[in-house]
Amino acid sequence: MKINEHYSELGGNYLFAEMKRKTAEFQRLNPDADIIKLGIGDVTLPLTPAVIEAMHRAVDEMGSASSFRGYGPEQGYDFLIDSIIRHEYESRGIKIKRNEIFVSDGSKCDVANIQEIFSTSCTAAICDPVYPVYRDSNIMAGRKIILLPCTRENDFVPELPQKPVDIVYLCSPNNPTGKTLTRNDLTRWVNWAHEKHAIILFDSAYSAYIRDPELPGSIYEIPGAEEVAIEFKSFSKTAGFTGLRCAFTVVPEAAGTLNAMWNRRHCTKFNGVSYIIQRAAEAVYSDTGRRETTALIDYYMENAAIIRNGLRNAGFKVHGGENAPYIWWELPEGLDSMNFSTKLLESCRVVGTPGIGFGSCGEGFFRLTAFGNRAHAIEAVSRIRELKIDRIP
Ligand code: MLT
Repeated sequence: MKINEHYSELGGNYLFAEMKRKTAEFQRLNPDADIIKLGIGDVTLPLTPAVIEAMHRAVDEMGSASSFRGYGPEQGYDFLIDSIIRHEYESRGIKIKRNEIFVSDGSKCDVANIQEIFSTSCTAAICDPVYPVYRDSNIMAGRKIILLPCTRENDFVPELPQKPVDIVYLCSPNNPTGKTLTRNDLTRWVNWAHEKHAIILFDSAYSAYIRDPELPGSIYEIPGAEEVAIEFKSFSKTAGFTGLRCAFTVVPEAAGTLNAMWNRRHCTKFNGVSYIIQRAAEAVYSDTGRRETTALIDYYMENAAIIRNGLRNAGFKVHGGENAPYIWWELPEGLDSMNFSTKLLESCRVVGTPGIGFGSCGEGFFRLTAFGNRAHAIEAVSRIRELKIDRIP
């Protein structure tokens, strides 16, 4: 059988699947262990009342012949697209047209699938450390990858590539480092993309976590970005939809043929997000929905502050967690992040994600998420405080 030989270059399991497997194995061997999971960035708070009510109403509609819906538009219903345009873009002074928005079942799939509209001969640049989906999906496609180191030395902001690159993935607020790119950073990238005829794939799934009003929540706040950037946003981390599945991708017409190509791909391979879920997503933008969503995000950001400050007070060095739900913990010199994850699990019963899983520049770091519950955030810090490892002076 002729298989895709590039899969053999992936090595091991998908990062979060492997971490889940290790945790389950530890739990099996230690059934009484009270494990705190701050590994995968999965939300823990339930859906808000506005979202639940919208789904109940939509379920009732589906049960009546007069309001039943079958296949919907592949790109999403106008009621949701119009709400997205109003609340995500017009509110930021950005003009986006209906046909530039593609509602989907998740940004994870979109950031991986989008590469289908680019030649496999393209060179893709990705940050190191990086959300592994960009890396793994481009390896699967056999594409050449260039790494952009994001280290303490460059304050986790990637430098412009020195070699020819066709597509670049940027994620801000960043997963895993928690770094958020400034207007100047993004302007530099947009100008570079214009100059090099490159396309920026901008993962903005965590933009709702930006607190600083000076930081851009969309790449289209940067003049000219609509010609060189595709943007991905999600309801997962914004409104607790990790289990519901709803996101959207913006492919501007100004980016040339990409809009028509993505539309073609979307209509061919995707049949749209269910009506019920799209009504739920629409409810996120209602007055009540927005108040409730803000409260969700406030809750997680309070967790982030508890973890960040708690670790700092315990003598550790931490990054991120201010405009992002991820805390990037800098480990003392010489500690290998994979061994550290075992030590943390064994001695503190706390699960996080070893930096090496996100790339070689992630070695020496460890990611904790703020998406757990409050009691867990507090308890994790108190257990970590007792950890017998060196502190960074
Ligand atoms: C993460 O932990 O990095 C995220 O939960 C992964 C995702 O959103 O797919």
